[in-house]
Amino acid sequence: MTDRDTPRTVPLLDLRPRALLVPGAAFLPESRIASSGRLIDTRGRPLRDLRISVTDRCNFRCNYCMPKEIFDKDYAYLPHQALLSFEEITRIAKIFVAHGVQKIRLTGGEPLLRKNVERLVEQLAALRTPQGQALDITLTTNGSLLARKARDLKAAGLQRVTVSLDGLDDAVFRSMNDVDFPVADVLAGIDAAQEAGLGPIKINMVVKRGTNEHEILPMARRFRGSGIVLRFIEYMDVGATNGWRMNEVLPSSEVVKLIHAELPLVQLEPSHPGETAARWGYADASGQYDKALGEIGVISSVTQAFCGDCNRARLSTEGKLFLCLFATQGYDLRSLIRMDASDADLASAIGHIWQGRDDRYSELRSALAPDAGPGGRRVEMSYIGG
Ligand code: GTP
Ligand code: 5AD
Ligand code: SF4
Ligand code: SF4
Repeated sequence: MTDRDTPRTVPLLDLRPRALLVPGAAFLPESRIASSGRLIDTRGRPLRDLRISVTDRCNFRCNYCMPKEIFDKDYAYLPHQALLSFEEITRIAKIFVAHGVQKIRLTGGEPLLRKNVERLVEQLAALRTPQGQALDITLTTNGSLLARKARDLKAAGLQRVTVSLDGLDDAVFRSMNDVDFPVADVLAGIDAAQEAGLGPIKINMVVKRGTNEHEILPMARRFRGSGIVLRFIEYMDVGATNGWRMNEVLPSSEVVKLIHAELPLVQLEPSHPGETAARWGYADASGQYDKALGEIGVISSVTQAFCGDCNRARLSTEGKLFLCLFATQGYDLRSLIRMDASDADLASAIGHIWQGRDDRYSELRSALAPDAGPGGRRVEMSYIGG
């Protein structure tokens, strides 16, 4: 990572005695926040979902995420000592779980590139909510290493995986990953995940108008009735390097219309609050939802923002806490940990940070200039995780 790509850091120093003298600084507050199993931000949104990036590296160069021109051989990725260790991640995750997190997603970059990531899964799988429940532990992957790793991940306690797949046509897929990676190997990874029982499997397809919209129907046909949930994602203006343009966004409403014309759909209720995807089920001949045919999802961050009940926090590879996918600054939990902060100190910091949260970028997008926001440059998706 170079200076131009480094998001602004909010230091979390123990400034308690001087707190009031440091306007705008984040500090360890005097008052303690006890583990309540529930933290609410300024918009009434609870903390439920923690996304942990375990590496900022990836073996793909998807143009919408890590364009080759920027993420080239000279790009400065994080050095090993900057990364949180598995023990540090688990310690932080445990505190989040005590404060309401019920779902943990491992992301990257490509998380399966992190050496021995299944050991981390093992540690996280042992955590319990204050009510004694196991967590929903999942992982987002490009699928390239899944055929090799699916069984070990399952054995370590991973429940399910989400695989990114932007098309079935080999030429389209190779050009979108931009490293000439064959689609057959990702499909083999998905099969391996299914065999290992890492389900329900979800597939995320980022749709770019003019690039892969003709893959929408083949993808729908292929996964209908497979037990796999296919989700179509509107191409987003995340990060600052992908040259996003609104005219490359295909609104989800058009995706639904296109599929519905051939494979009739009915709208389904959300399965839980704060869900990213709107759900549509395949209908049978009588027009009723047919569970055997399954469902699709559409994630419409651009045309229909879902910030209203966003319950997601993000922990970067180097231990910064981000409150929004489009954030321009992160809170430095790693330095707290490495300064020997106690669990109570960490819990207080996390509690106060979440309680002060006001982020709702997607809702405000249309009113903002590109790259606007406090402090300027937005964090990259490969660094913060999807
Ligand atoms: P499930 O629990 O499996 O439903 O996962 P999820 O949909 O919560 O997470 P996933 O990482 O699969 O999200 C799919 C895609 O939605 C991501 O790759 C992002 O493109 C987008 N996305 C996820 N979370 C957010 C968010 O908080 N804001 C915005 N704007 N987009 C998001
Ligand atoms: N827009 C939408 N989704 C994106 N992802 C990465 N970059 C973007 C973007 N610009 C999502 C994809 C990918 C996951 C890791 O993040 O779904 O599979
Ligand atoms: Fe890698 Fe996923 Fe980004 Fe593609 S979208 S470059 S697979 S992290
Ligand atoms: Fe949450 Fe930010 Fe995404 Fe809105 S834009 S849903 S606040 S992460």
